[in-house]
Amino acid sequence: MNNNLPMITGLGYAIPSKAVTNTDLTKIFDTSDEWIYTRTGIKERRLFASDEEAFNLLEKVCKQAIANAGIDVNDIDIIIAASSMPVQLMPNTACMAHKLLGVRKNIPAYDFSAACSGFVYGLDIANSYVRSGMYKNILLIAMDNCSRYLDWTDRRTSILFGDGIGAVVVSAGDENDILSIDIKADGSIGDYITMPVNKGNCPFVDNTPTPQFLDMKGQDVYKFVTNIVPDYVTNEILAKNQINVDEVDYLILHQANQRIIGAVQERLGYDDSKVIKNIEKLGNTSASSIIIALGEALKERKIKTPAKAIVCGFGAGMCWGGGVIRIRDGIFKDANIF
Ligand code: COA
Repeated sequence: MNNNLPMITGLGYAIPSKAVTNTDLTKIFDTSDEWIYTRTGIKERRLFASDEEAFNLLEKVCKQAIANAGIDVNDIDIIIAASSMPVQLMPNTACMAHKLLGVRKNIPAYDFSAACSGFVYGLDIANSYVRSGMYKNILLIAMDNCSRYLDWTDRRTSILFGDGIGAVVVSAGDENDILSIDIKADGSIGDYITMPVNKGNCPFVDNTPTPQFLDMKGQDVYKFVTNIVPDYVTNEILAKNQINVDEVDYLILHQANQRIIGAVQERLGYDDSKVIKNIEKLGNTSASSIIIALGEALKERKIKTPAKAIVCGFGAGMCWGGGVIRIRDGIFKDANIF
């Protein structure tokens, strides 16, 4: 029997407390609920009210995922965190989780950056770790604090994003929950979404101040994503792995734009009950969006388990990735951890 198959055994997610509606945004620049909603499907987004709240929620989400997986914190062998817009660079998000969880062993903990594809990139990493026999229990976190990287005087970008955290536990077992997984990048169009880093004050090198905000060529991103993602889902995620579109129960796409979700839905011919969404209430929560959408749908019983779902992320880099996962019974029980 193969005991090195990746099983997704637990999930946790959290929604920050501070709600900002489209109407709130009309108070800081010239925009309207109608403009934002018709172009993006977003009505509201949630922001971490403070660093303290962000780390409190990180602790809760990780504990939820671990409790739902039915293991002890000290059974975790490695913590990896998809975080391109972290609350802080050091200590990184994974090491913060190591501390907050009170992990006794010196297990490895690191962050990686794959923007809004972070969760699917993380699934690919976890899949490889488990199948190679390297680690048995992996805590995969996806956490982005988008609001602190946005220019809140820029109505083109700040309307789109919200903050969020999700986590899953991937454990070695005898059943395969990652039925297909693929990740890709095209750095030649990296200028579609950019975010420079502060050049600091070193007097010996170029330290010309640079605006440290996320910038985006919105139309280029939109065209790129709507051109590649529908084909990618049907060819690379499904056909290449001999998975028929009707075998899959749900579509959980990165929550970037309702029109992008609609384009993929149309290609797959899925009715609304098969398409999991939360963009209206949360906006684009970057790496965490797929986990949060899945967690919410499980909590609200919109997903009947066991089930199979297409997951697909895309974002800055440009990078993208996706796969088909099995959603087993009981991965999210909404345990009251605190
Ligand atoms: N409210 C009102 N007007 C706005 C606005 C806002 N929030 N943001 C931009 N505009 C204006 C622009 O200034 C421009 O006006 P002008 O023609 O007078 O110059 C006009 O609306 C059109 O701007 P444009 O940027 O071309 O809008 P768009 O139709 O491309 O829609 C997005 C903008 C961002 C909604 C759209 O490009 C998009 O969804 N892109 C994909 C973004 C995405 O998903 N990114 C994340 C990937 S992970």
